[in-house]
Amino acid sequence: MKSLRLVVVLSSLCILISGHSERERLHDLMFKYPLIDGHNDLALQLRRFYNNELSQVDLHNVTKFATDINRLRAGHVQAQMFAVYVMCGAQEKDAVRLTLEQIDVVRRMCTEYQEFELVTSVQGLRNSEMKHKIACLISIEGGHSIDSSLPTLRMFYLLGVRSMSLTHSCNTPWKVIVFQRENNSLTHFGKAVVEEMNRLGMIVDLSHTAWDTASAVLKHSKAPVIFSHSSSYFICHHHRNVPDWILLELRKNRGVIMVNFHRNFITFRDKANISHVADHFDHIKKLIGAESIGIGADFEGAVSFPQGLDDVSKYPDLIQELLQRNWTENEVANILRGNFLRVFEEVERVRDQLSLNQPSEVQIPVEEVQNPCRLVLRPPKPKEHRQSSSSRAHHGPKGLLILAIGLLLSSFFMDE
Ligand SMILES: *[C@@H]1O[C@H](CO)[C@@H](O)[C@H](O)[C@H]1NC(C)=O
Ligand SMILES: *[C@@H]1O[C@H](CO)[C@@H](O)[C@H](O)[C@H]1NC(C)=O
Ligand SMILES: *[C@@H]1O[C@H](CO)[C@@H](O)[C@H](O)[C@H]1NC(C)=O
Ligand SMILES: *[C@@H]1O[C@H](CO)[C@@H](O)[C@H](O)[C@H]1NC(C)=O
Ligand SMILES: [Zn+2]
Repeated sequence: MKSLRLVVVLSSLCILISGHSERERLHDLMFKYPLIDGHNDLALQLRRFYNNELSQVDLHNVTKFATDINRLRAGHVQAQMFAVYVMCGAQEKDAVRLTLEQIDVVRRMCTEYQEFELVTSVQGLRNSEMKHKIACLISIEGGHSIDSSLPTLRMFYLLGVRSMSLTHSCNTPWKVIVFQRENNSLTHFGKAVVEEMNRLGMIVDLSHTAWDTASAVLKHSKAPVIFSHSSSYFICHHHRNVPDWILLELRKNRGVIMVNFHRNFITFRDKANISHVADHFDHIKKLIGAESIGIGADFEGAVSFPQGLDDVSKYPDLIQELLQRNWTENEVANILRGNFLRVFEEVERVRDQLSLNQPSEVQIPVEEVQNPCRLVLRPPKPKEHRQSSSSRAHHGPKGLLILAIGLLLSSFFMDE
């Protein structure tokens, strides 16, 4: 009886110690390889709840969000791609202004809080880790943000944007939305956007695009691409997830799919937990290898999360589940950050290779973007000049008046 009690005590002590050391091993691993997450919509919440007034919130501890600095630290998050998303309703309206304002709020957040650091390169990302900072990367979510303009894309790059998803849930004039299944899903201008992103060193993000668009881009891009927040269609038949045939193309492209935790993308049932999320990782690994996987949880964007994965402090629990499923430490280190860093490095390498190329002057055909918010400035055609001077000859003062107004207008535009 006594010895039995001893055995019980000893074995429970063993479980305690091994459990403890397992948890320690996990935290050591994540300390060594802290997470780079592909997608977080905190900036959207700052607009919704605080009208982007950062002075109204303390980002160390925001209980109504799933993301704050304390919990990012607890979750071993070292870098976060912050989406600067504006609603599709802003397309053909003020999408560019709204995007600028979202970039502003991320830039402010990442400079005003000393725990954060805005980074725009692989080197910057690595340095921020040495300094124990949380690196902020800026990504545009939805090509409508550039209003079909490559110069606008370039200016966003100058402001620090290093990734853009080509569509959200609206068609851009040059892409096809997620719901459509057409073959002509990348137009001439769409190809120019991909080429210009390759030239600039901006990561192409295919989350939200139609599958055929994704496939067309995978064929066209010179650099590896990412799905910043999408999961496996094989495991959960949701159109936002990625089917196996595209995953196979992604492997050829050497890109990465960063798995989304949104409950609707994990399982159609009401209940989802960490095991269901791990199933997505297992399936993708089996199909295209662990070197093609990352994490893009979609906190603040998605509305509901699996049990046990409901805020940014919970990533270690998923990693523990993967280790229990016999993922090696090397595989885990790669999905935490190694794979994303490899893609980003290759994107920079392609940029360097293309450094002799001039900025693209490709423009979208005017008839594809006709809307009242778009002003087209063209000098008057020479023929019209002749017409107006002849009208002066024939109509005297009235013709002169028209000419004067014309001159006034053109000098007004020249001053701009
Ligand atoms: C965060 O704020 C809540 C109240 O809003 C408080 O109850 C909690 O203790 C705070 N947590 C930390 C870690 O400061
Ligand atoms: C799309 O597919 C249809 C039918 O296969 C074909 O007729 C059409 O030319 C294709 N369009 C493009 C742009 O490839
Ligand atoms: C998740 O739920 C399934 C039942 O749907 C169950 O078999 C599994 O053990 C659960 N996993 C965790 C980690 O709770
Ligand atoms: C992990 O590996 C161990 C020992 O090699 C084995 O007993 C166990 O069944 C494996 N677990 C899974 C989920 O494959
Ligand atoms: Zn999204």
